[in-house]
Amino acid sequence: MSDRLYIFDTTLRDGEQVPGCQLNTVEKIQVARALETLGVDVIEAGFPISSPGDFKSVVEISKAVTWPTICALTRAVEKDIDAASEALKYAKHGRIHTGIGTSDSHIRYKFNSTREEILERAIAATKYAKKYVEDVEFYCEDAGRTDNEYLARVVEAVIKAGATVVNIPDTTGYCLPDEYGAKIRYLMEHVDGIDKAIISTHCHNDLGMATANTVQGVLNGARQVEVTINGIGERAGNTSLEEIAMIFKSHKEQNIQTNINTTKIYGISRMVSSLMNMPIQPNKAIVGRNAFAHSSGIHQDGVLKNAETYEIIDPKDVGIDDNAIVLTARSGRAALKHRMHVLGIDVDQERLDKIYEDFLKLADKKKEITDDDVMVLAGADRSQNHHIKLEYLQVTSGVGVRPVASLGLNIAGEKFEAAASGNGPVDAAIKALKQIIHRQMVLKEFTIQAISKGSDDVGKVHMQVEYDNRMYYGFGANTDIIAASLEAYIDAINKFVK
Ligand code: KIV
Ligand code: ZN
Repeated sequence: MSDRLYIFDTTLRDGEQVPGCQLNTVEKIQVARALETLGVDVIEAGFPISSPGDFKSVVEISKAVTWPTICALTRAVEKDIDAASEALKYAKHGRIHTGIGTSDSHIRYKFNSTREEILERAIAATKYAKKYVEDVEFYCEDAGRTDNEYLARVVEAVIKAGATVVNIPDTTGYCLPDEYGAKIRYLMEHVDGIDKAIISTHCHNDLGMATANTVQGVLNGARQVEVTINGIGERAGNTSLEEIAMIFKSHKEQNIQTNINTTKIYGISRMVSSLMNMPIQPNKAIVGRNAFAHSSGIHQDGVLKNAETYEIIDPKDVGIDDNAIVLTARSGRAALKHRMHVLGIDVDQERLDKIYEDFLKLADKKKEITDDDVMVLAGADRSQNHHIKLEYLQVTSGVGVRPVASLGLNIAGEKFEAAASGNGPVDAAIKALKQIIHRQMVLKEFTIQAISKGSDDVGKVHMQVEYDNRMYYGFGANTDIIAASLEAYIDAINKFVK
């Protein structure tokens, strides 16, 4: 008999803490519904006290999703727990996730407190949350660097106070796999009443160890894992859901089973990447563009003879369908709708008609429409509500001439035009734009995503623009890379010019 491993997805909470990758409530609901279809057990929907937006998202996700548990994060503070309980009032199954730092460093520097006081606060917060919901998860922040003996005391006390799940986060991503595994084993062996709660892993990837640590946690007794799609999250990110799901699917001898429908992985991975404008590194395990691409002659030869020679996972198991219909200018709405469905996007007829119209325009410019193009097309209407819109852009550049750009902007219905020269075509376009928008903004990062399918492909640009000591993220996609760059710049500006 296999042991059931519960999948707790925190893409919409820890994952969403990535600077510049915030989603609006509609987008969060879209991701939450896809997570439900994927089969996750728990969706951490937000940190309600942190902002009205987070509060609203927890409320709306609670209404939109039926069977997974909806979880809301709090500090070990009564007003946080009140807000979480209020936000969860529509959840069919609600969980409050409360906790406090337990490492000596957190106790001393963050709380200026003592181990005994923190233990009391942990018990009090658990009991307070328990007044509202049956399902209370307690996190021992920085458990990775917490002394095991003290950690065991905290875990035992919160279980006694009613915690149903106890989370052991390696908040700083410091642990080695053996060390983290031994920590979980220590708790399993030294905590009285450990069988009354589920122990959860929550590993960060600062040393590239998040997945290995999580696996060690599970092999030593944890039965819930906290993960994100594509491994996104604070700093170097969290453990990635798709890696854990495929590790235990591939290693049946471990007798660990999840509820994940792995064929939905590819679609949700693209959806999250597209909505958050976070490119997936090409060599990312399971979902990277090259994850199943065999380039060396020896490997190709082997795979053609029998895929098993070099492939440990059938791409179809994660939803990559080699026989997918290629979308071209001759594809109809039904083919586009089907491809969008595979990618986790379901839209009404009116929206489909609009996307199809844009699809035909793009298909006129390039031969084949890729999944990335479809994701961009499906997200394209995000710019419709923009305060500043690009009306036109003309650029002259080449060898031996100084690039010149002229452009037209529509700002809340009013038209503006400007022209400027620059060191390059993008520089010229940004200088022209700055003649209209007089703000002290600095371009900090500028990434052009690799074009993978020929010179007619859509170029995707990711930018970070600093304004008033804050970083704003922008994204643009266009077959014209200069236009994509300017669109990304304008997308970022729209986040602070209202
Ligand atoms: O990394 C961490 O410790 C966390 C907790 C708030 C669960 O995200
Ligand atoms: Zn975390």
